[in-house]
Amino acid sequence: MLNGEIIAVTSGKGGVGKSTVSVNLALSLARLGKNVALIDLDIYGFSVPKILNLTSKPKTMNGKIIPVESHGVKVMSMGFLVKGNDPIVWRGPMLGKIVENFVKDVLWGELDYAILDLPPGTGDVALDLHHFIPQSKEIIVTTPHPTATHVAERAGTMALKTKHDILGVIENMSYFIPPASEEKFFLFGKGGGDQLATDLHTEVIARLPIEPPREGSATPSVFEQGSELYNHYMKLAEKVDQLSKQQNLADAKL
Ligand SMILES: Nc1ncnc2c1ncn2[C@@H]1O[C@H](COP(=O)(O)OP(=O)(O)O)[C@@H](O)[C@H]1O
Ligand SMILES: [Mg+2]
Repeated sequence: MLNGEIIAVTSGKGGVGKSTVSVNLALSLARLGKNVALIDLDIYGFSVPKILNLTSKPKTMNGKIIPVESHGVKVMSMGFLVKGNDPIVWRGPMLGKIVENFVKDVLWGELDYAILDLPPGTGDVALDLHHFIPQSKEIIVTTPHPTATHVAERAGTMALKTKHDILGVIENMSYFIPPASEEKFFLFGKGGGDQLATDLHTEVIARLPIEPPREGSATPSVFEQGSELYNHYMKLAEKVDQLSKQQNLADAKL
């Protein structure tokens, strides 16, 4: 049974960095010594196995699934359940079944955190999630451009409607600092994260710079020590840990 603090990473649209954020946040929480699960629920574009360069599939034991371990994180993905890169047509009830399987039929063990990479938008998967995991919290990812924010806001409004706590907004691809420089270039505009956070009555918990994937690496989008994004993700993990504890304390007092 899925347990621990469950955090869904969402956004209104694709390509803003949800999967990259989910993977690197999960790894950073594990580096803090937490027991972490990472669940890829992006059925249309599952990318977690690719980002982590996973080739093995989960095994089963007595009808239960044993998640794949990577970088100290327990991983499950829709990608494990399909052959090759065949496109799949998922129907609503099938989706619900899979979300339910991941929640109930995986041997997660004792967890501190479960990070969920959601498909873009506010579709079936989001609804199933609200149904099966009503206690999950949300992190909303946006780019700094105000129009991106407009789309991300719909995901946030959904969270508010279903009474999910929002942990905060992550502004990804916030700025770029060229090598050997300290000047920030705001390539995708400015202000999107702040605007979204204001609209959703929350805060911006990270502004992540643009950093090219590491060439020649088997896992170019996993940020290792020495990269600027590694430091940002470590800070983000600490912030998430601190915020979850604060919110749970506040909830306990109500
Ligand atoms: N901060 C960043 N700097 C540079 N490239 C990034 C950054 N965040 C994400 N990307 C790249 O953007 C693309 C989309 O990211 P992804 O995590 O797959 O988005 P999503 O899951 O929202 O569709 C990927 O190629 C990823 O490597
Ligand atoms: Mg994705």
